[in-house]
Amino acid sequence: MEQVFALALGYFLGSVPFGLILTGLTGAGDLRAIGSGNIGATNVLRTGRKGIAAATLLLDMGKGLLAVELARRFWPGDEALAALGAVLGHCFPLWLKFKGGKGVATTMGVSLGLAWPIGLAYAVVWLGMLAITRISSVGGLSAAIAAPIAAAVLGYQEYALVLAAIALLVVFLHRANIARLRAGTEPKIGGSKSADR
Ligand code: G3P
Repeated sequence: MEQVFALALGYFLGSVPFGLILTGLTGAGDLRAIGSGNIGATNVLRTGRKGIAAATLLLDMGKGLLAVELARRFWPGDEALAALGAVLGHCFPLWLKFKGGKGVATTMGVSLGLAWPIGLAYAVVWLGMLAITRISSVGGLSAAIAAPIAAAVLGYQEYALVLAAIALLVVFLHRANIARLRAGTEPKIGGSKSADR
């Protein structure tokens, strides 16, 4: 039963669509009708509101971190399920007819919560690839794939499987980005993008 509670807690925390809420509250419009239509920080940046994009990034990370920390406190040993729940909640929120984000920032938060060295590895790969390519999806995809490898290499085998499952989900949700990367049409950070996710 604890496992179900941990998964559910993660899901409901993860399903809070901060990007959509913040852009709605500040009059930046409906994020789902802007750029890629994604509800994450990269797309918030396309509204031109850098502060709101930064806040979205931090809050989307924070909800993942909080889900893991709360699960660890209430149901020790089930924090990996809360991590999975948080990313599922962000990507498939009940409130948005299951059409949410692509999970990159929330995966950063849960990685940090599971074990800070995994979070650090995630951040280094994410920011490093972002600095090199200036393409958000390349940074996010690289970090999500690096997370289970970092978990295994750094001695956190108990988290490697859940992070591998999350990485597969993140890759699947980036399939339109991957197609654009292959075609050489994926825009750099802040660039415009049509609403094909
Ligand atoms: O975190 C999402 C990012 O990797 C891509 O977002 O809006 O460019 O599809 P977007």
